[in-house]
Amino acid sequence: MRLQQISGCVSREFEEFDRLYSRSVSFDKGTLGQALRYVLSQHGKRIRPLLIILMAKACGQVTDSTYRSAVILELLHTASLVHDDVLDKSDTRHNRPTVSRKWGNNTAVLLGDYLYGLCLQIIETREDFELMSIYSRIARELPMGEILQKDISERQDVSLDSYYEVIRYKTASLFGAACYIGAKTSRAKDDYVSVAEDFGRNLGMAFQIRDDILDFDTRGDSGKGFGNDIYEKKITLPLIFHLETLSSVERKRLFSFIRQDEKENDKVLAFVNEVLLSGALEKAEQLVEYYSDKAKMALLSLPESEYRNSLGDLVDCLVARRV
Ligand code: FPP
Ligand code: MG
Repeated sequence: MRLQQISGCVSREFEEFDRLYSRSVSFDKGTLGQALRYVLSQHGKRIRPLLIILMAKACGQVTDSTYRSAVILELLHTASLVHDDVLDKSDTRHNRPTVSRKWGNNTAVLLGDYLYGLCLQIIETREDFELMSIYSRIARELPMGEILQKDISERQDVSLDSYYEVIRYKTASLFGAACYIGAKTSRAKDDYVSVAEDFGRNLGMAFQIRDDILDFDTRGDSGKGFGNDIYEKKITLPLIFHLETLSSVERKRLFSFIRQDEKENDKVLAFVNEVLLSGALEKAEQLVEYYSDKAKMALLSLPESEYRNSLGDLVDCLVARRV
């Protein structure tokens, strides 16, 4: 099922989210205005607002606070991607040049900061008081994940646990928060709120592992190119599984290749093919399944409804995605 069909049952609420999201930005002068309009018109998959709204409907009612937090998390997510593309030196996202590519790193860093500032401005400190600890936790955990990821790329003792820690911070944390906030702002009972967070975290793990698998997709329809993680020295799950099949001499060769600053395109392609042949992607697929099954199990503790069914469809759609 496609995302558009899945969001059909909350189309009215999603329109309201869209209205508030585009109204949240009014600055239109000079480079900042241009870059803002560019990045906000990119329309990614908008998974986080969809999660918040579907979860609020599955647990109770969509409230003003639900909408506000959907806008805040989408802005925060957008800010983190603008910064991420600077760190990863990425040229394209959603098949279009990144902000850093178009306007340079300085503008991209400042645009990310501006979007982050916008989030703080939107928070209604009194009404959203209970959510403040969640917002501040995400704002800490996203950069923590990025820094840990860099630390790992410089170490010899790569472990599965360290990889999981990275993706827990950089992705699962925001997915978990979106679902927690959806349930909390719908005024659901506490049991549902913790189930919602558990669902989101497991979905986030499955989502990031899928993302890391897609980086080895040479068919080129991910909208971001392939092999970026290798160019950027990232040690992801497929790579860890590939490492397990190698002798210590081959591991050393792999590490010295990964850690090269400049890599030739044909060598990266040859390396991607080596990983494809090693069976590492199939092993990583099993973990996508493991986490998506856990997410779906969590849903069973929520009351039966079309919204709960849509959350289940969303899991299937995201883990099967090719973009
Ligand atoms: C994408 O990962 C990036 C993230 C999930 C998080 C990035 C977070 C930061 C740069 C910290 C910024 C923090 C704030 C508060 C603004 P990826 O590179 O694996 O995925 P990609 O293939 O989509 O680029
Ligand atoms: Mg990136």
